Amino acid sequence: MELMAIAAPSSLYYSFHQSSFQKCSYLPHNSRFPPRLRFPSSTIRASSSVALEPDLDTQQNQKSDVDLFACPICYEPLIRKGPPGINLPAIYRSGFKCGKCNKSYSSKDIYLDLTVTASSRDYTEVKPTGTELFRSPIVSFLYERGWRQNFNRSGFPGPDEEFQMAQEYFKSAEGGLLVDVSCGSGLFSRKFAKSGTYSGVIALDFSENMLRQCYNFIESDGTLLTSNLALVRADVSRLPFSSGSIDAVHAGAALHCWPSPSNAIAEITRILRSGGVFVGTTFLRYTSSTPPILRSFRRIQQNYNYLTEEEIKDLCTSCGLTNYSSKVQQSFIMFSAQKPQT
Ligand SMILES: C[S@@+](CC[C@H](N)C(=O)[O-])C[C@H]1O[C@@H](n2cnc3c(N)ncnc32)[C@H](O)[C@@H]1O
Repeated sequence: MELMAIAAPSSLYYSFHQSSFQKCSYLPHNSRFPPRLRFPSSTIRASSSVALEPDLDTQQNQKSDVDLFACPICYEPLIRKGPPGINLPAIYRSGFKCGKCNKSYSSKDIYLDLTVTASSRDYTEVKPTGTELFRSPIVSFLYERGWRQNFNRSGFPGPDEEFQMAQEYFKSAEGGLLVDVSCGSGLFSRKFAKSGTYSGVIALDFSENMLRQCYNFIESDGTLLTSNLALVRADVSRLPFSSGSIDAVHAGAALHCWPSPSNAIAEITRILRSGGVFVGTTFLRYTSSTPPILRSFRRIQQNYNYLTEEEIKDLCTSCGLTNYSSKVQQSFIMFSAQKPQT
């Protein structure tokens, strides 16, 4: 019974929506979106958007704008054709193109795929366990249905408190654009979007199934479907945003899963604007109160990059971030660092 419930969501999802989805001419032939969705009356535009000349490939009712999203290959801002706004229906109905690479990006599923391999047909890449594990449909399904609650045993205060703590660190980024990197099934992205604190929230993850779960949670909420929340598939080592374009980056329980924490933090630093804030949580390799037996256990767990607090601070500093601060509880750490003001 439990297994059936786990297997059900994706198949149910497709059969339920298959008959009622509306096609968009800019999207792949198999792309559909529920026709009942209406665009919000006031969508917020990314501050980095610049209108192009109207004669540049503009079709009736479809504007071409330089977008907030950038090409994951050359970091050139993408040109967007379709309705504006950082919300699911607008992004779903838009096509994105890199003027430099001539490469197109679109929403194949319910998320916008901005990975380097977005359009590749034959090439498949197997990432390290910390990435691959979460691509599984079962793990994605279970994540907010028990898996994440287990983190409390290691000192994680729980989503509500973690959210409040992060909001305190993000005070200076209020009204700005927040990227929830490695959002999983969107536990915190949804809270950030609901808070109304930000002009836009990008829920970003490498796992297709986590993003599908995120969509299911958004859909069942009702109020979030047309809010300023976008779903993007991307690799943390290749973030699809222009340098200095993002006000806040959150990465909950993620650093230890990343293939290269140093590449990831360098990327996060690159996309943050001057004064922008990065807040992350992770499991520490050990703290002064960790029993020696657990310390050696963590050291031999090669699948994850568990760091010490000194290493996290050092990494942030060596990427050029300043104002490092942290809160530690058993193996849980929430840390914050800021891109220097220029
Ligand atoms: C433990 S979950 C954290 C989910 C959520 N942020 C939270 O606080 O519960 C770690 C997430 O990192 C994502 N991840 C792993 N490798 C990644 C990569 N290379 N790029 C982007 N996300 C990645 C996984 O897909 C997974 O959703």
